[in-house]
Amino acid sequence: MQARTPLIAGNWKMYGRRADLAQIAAVRERIGQASAGVEVLFCPPAPFLAEAAIAAGDSLAVGAQDCSAIAEDAPRTGEISAGMLGDCGARYVIVGHSERRTQHGESSFLVRKKAEAAQAAGLVPIVCLGETAAERAAGEAVAVVRRQLTESVPPHSPALVVAYEPVWAIGGDRTPTVAEIGEIHGQLRAGLHELHGAARDAVRILYGGSVNARNAGEIFAIPDVDGALVGRASLKAEDFAAIILAHPAALRSGN
Ligand code: PGA
Repeated sequence: MQARTPLIAGNWKMYGRRADLAQIAAVRERIGQASAGVEVLFCPPAPFLAEAAIAAGDSLAVGAQDCSAIAEDAPRTGEISAGMLGDCGARYVIVGHSERRTQHGESSFLVRKKAEAAQAAGLVPIVCLGETAAERAAGEAVAVVRRQLTESVPPHSPALVVAYEPVWAIGGDRTPTVAEIGEIHGQLRAGLHELHGAARDAVRILYGGSVNARNAGEIFAIPDVDGALVGRASLKAEDFAAIILAHPAALRSGN
């Protein structure tokens, strides 16, 4: 199996102002040498990307929270293309977050188009998927995420990150059990094998949904969990740095 560098991503959602970009330098200071062992990514709102990229420098990365499904310049008022995001310093872009799927009616087909547009622009898409509480209660969690994976992820493209974010675990205080996360991540790895063949081991699978400094260590220890997508706890440097430092790869690098 290929070694995968863990990725710990902060999704600021529609929070923050330019002044909050100071959090980026504050995280860098707090994590010190740990940034050598894990990849740390900030996804602030799009207007702040260029300034965030400067603050992030070479040791941290910056990404966007969404992009247009259309790769070429086009008459699309209000849309932002992946190429524009890359021009502002983004290296990653989140696509298919459940808030976009539910609040903006985005289908897996559209999510896949966005992922392809991101890849065409040289960005790495972070494709989000996850079941609702009702789907889990009905015993359909595995089937739902396998279907979302097949429909949302461009095949044969190792330049890809997948994030498992159970809808019911986002923004609250409930997380799945270790066994539940392990089961889904194992299923996603198997699904990636079918979609990507030999490239499957290069794809990182993140867990997202109420990750915090208290539960991060336990989550990072689960097989096939290659990092986290963090919402609320990424907004404060102290909290986000504590999550990063909970990763064993961060500990190994001397902190
Ligand atoms: P949360 O959000 O960490 O605040 O639950 C995670 C996400 O939506 O990516």
